[in-house]
Amino acid sequence: MKISDISWEAELDLNIVLDSIHEAINTKKLFRYQFKKSESSVNILEKAINNYVKTKFSLGVSSATNAIFLALKSAGIKSTSKVLIPAFTFTAVPSAVIQCGAEPVLVDITENYVVDLIDLELKIIATGAKYFLISHMRGHLCDMPEVVRICEKHSVILIEDAAHALGVTWNGKHAGTFGLAGIYSLQSYKIINAGEGGMLVTNDPDVFWKSVFMSGSYENNYQLHSSEDLNIAEKYKNKLPVFNVRMNNLTAALAIPQLLNIESTISRLNKNYDTLVTKLNRPDLVIFPIKPYEVRAVRDSAQMRIMLNESCRNELKIKLNQSGVPISYFGGVNNSNARLYQNWKFLDSKNSNLPNTKKHLEEVFDLRLPIHFTIECIERVSDIFLNVIEEL
Ligand SMILES: Cc1ncc(COP(=O)(O)O)c(C=O)c1O
Repeated sequence: MKISDISWEAELDLNIVLDSIHEAINTKKLFRYQFKKSESSVNILEKAINNYVKTKFSLGVSSATNAIFLALKSAGIKSTSKVLIPAFTFTAVPSAVIQCGAEPVLVDITENYVVDLIDLELKIIATGAKYFLISHMRGHLCDMPEVVRICEKHSVILIEDAAHALGVTWNGKHAGTFGLAGIYSLQSYKIINAGEGGMLVTNDPDVFWKSVFMSGSYENNYQLHSSEDLNIAEKYKNKLPVFNVRMNNLTAALAIPQLLNIESTISRLNKNYDTLVTKLNRPDLVIFPIKPYEVRAVRDSAQMRIMLNESCRNELKIKLNQSGVPISYFGGVNNSNARLYQNWKFLDSKNSNLPNTKKHLEEVFDLRLPIHFTIECIERVSDIFLNVIEEL
């Protein structure tokens, strides 16, 4: 296999989605509320997500960013609120906090790319923040029972950005179901590729119904959600602003068959990752993060620390890119990666006390492992990686 034969772009598996798309289009109705008995594709996707992650309520919206925004608003965030977030996440996460008019407070991370729980507790105490928007960046999961314990101890509301973590579990419990609400992304580079889209899950009827109304459920459309708690919905009718971030039926029709197939996708992804780790067996040069035994991971990307000096790391990135491996890198100067907090210039992070995040990321390379990759793709990429590293 030639490296130029490998497609790095997220590709849709047409065999899986075509029937579902045809079925949705044949109804000639794309707006979720055109189906009078809670039977739109969006309703079906919401039930399937609840069934998969074992939550009571789920709401399909236009993106994970909008789902985070709705979750924060429904959880009671105000313009005076401070919201703790990990310093390693995607720029959309602090942006959703800003969209609420609130203030993001960055928390340091560990060398395994998850929140540093000591810094979390210190910053809860120092800032008095009452909200923690954890982000399971690249699917890496913290010790979630410990996160819940810290939040409960300090009466902090936990919301989970599990945009990258659909299918990741801690002792069998799904990421996204530990806090008041959880969020998954269906954007192209995620495990379910619907182009764009987001899901909000919760067991809290108030959070659910507030989110339903604010997502754009006007007049009596809320009655078309699959839920028994309509009496709770009535409390919020006409009381909330409407942001129109609904999901349409085609998006849901793309997502449903992929969700039904997710466990087989996860096994394939994890096998690809294991092959990569085995092939790049150079512990003197390439260090993969440690996964707690409680975690069932979902590997649609690989992060690795490369033990070379900075100029060699820069050269490695350039050479890999030239060889057809579009790897990204969290170190170096003038790096415009949107996952580096230093590039969130809309925040004033000068006074954020983050002794470790930069240090833990600056040796780290980030490689997407798209869901259509075969073992042959992984082997080819690993060979190129090893050759380039040997040359340096
Ligand atoms: C960690 C993280 N959270 C949230 C989002 C936002 O997802 P969406 O593009 O669906 O709004 C992203 C986007 O990639 C992300 O990487």
